[in-house]
Amino acid sequence: MKYVIAGNWKMNMSPLEAGQLAKGIVDGLMTAESDLTVFDPHVEIIVCPPFVSIAEVVSRTENTLIQIGAQNMHHEISGAFTGEISAKMLLDAGCRYVTLGHSERRHVFGEDNAWINKKMIAAQVNGLKPILCVGETEIERDEDRTFNVIKKQLKEGLIGVQDVADGRLVIAYEPVWAIGTGRTATPEQAQEIHAFIRKLLWELYKDSAVSIPLLYGGSVKPSNVYDLLAQPDINGALVGGASLKADSFVELVLAGLKISRN
Ligand code: PGA
Repeated sequence: MKYVIAGNWKMNMSPLEAGQLAKGIVDGLMTAESDLTVFDPHVEIIVCPPFVSIAEVVSRTENTLIQIGAQNMHHEISGAFTGEISAKMLLDAGCRYVTLGHSERRHVFGEDNAWINKKMIAAQVNGLKPILCVGETEIERDEDRTFNVIKKQLKEGLIGVQDVADGRLVIAYEPVWAIGTGRTATPEQAQEIHAFIRKLLWELYKDSAVSIPLLYGGSVKPSNVYDLLAQPDINGALVGGASLKADSFVELVLAGLKISRN
């Protein structure tokens, strides 16, 4: 399976800044590997800029294998939903992925599993690959509810989602207590949950479960990425802070590449 290194830029990077960052990433990868096409069989590189910066990043990454993702979308295709954006618009704009159910969407903007599920279906129907984010809060972990929370988020988020082959479904485990805090789950803690997620996916999708990339997210950086990616059920990383600088994002991609070649 291809490793996936995805950068979630959150509400950072104006079109101008996003263009500079995208250029820095492309230049950095070309310098390190001389030919970006070599990434094809090994690492799927995704960047998720804010909506207004998507066009700029699409144009700066033209003729590379870098894929563009959106950070959110509405489940309807069009209509009277002021301030929202649809899967079809994102696809037309050049996106191939969309993160759904990110903990900030769940906890700051009140998105629940049922709504996230509608978005999952709409993303796939319209040709976007969803990256479904799941993860427990610190209180839920302290109260020993981690497994139940993850199970509910997955089961309810994936109702009716059948199209899982060839990376068309990606799951990201992001413990909320590790996001943007500098605290990372240990590789063992992350692996424990990833193995649990894989088992749940196996119940839903049988053999296809082995080909669903499971990303870890939460304070991933160049200094901890190797140990995380070395775990058997961690197939990549969803990265916030460390994706905002070209050199650290390039290092993360190179880590994925190195590990996948071993
Ligand atoms: P972080 O964010 O890497 O800054 O912890 C990860 C995420 O929210 O996807």
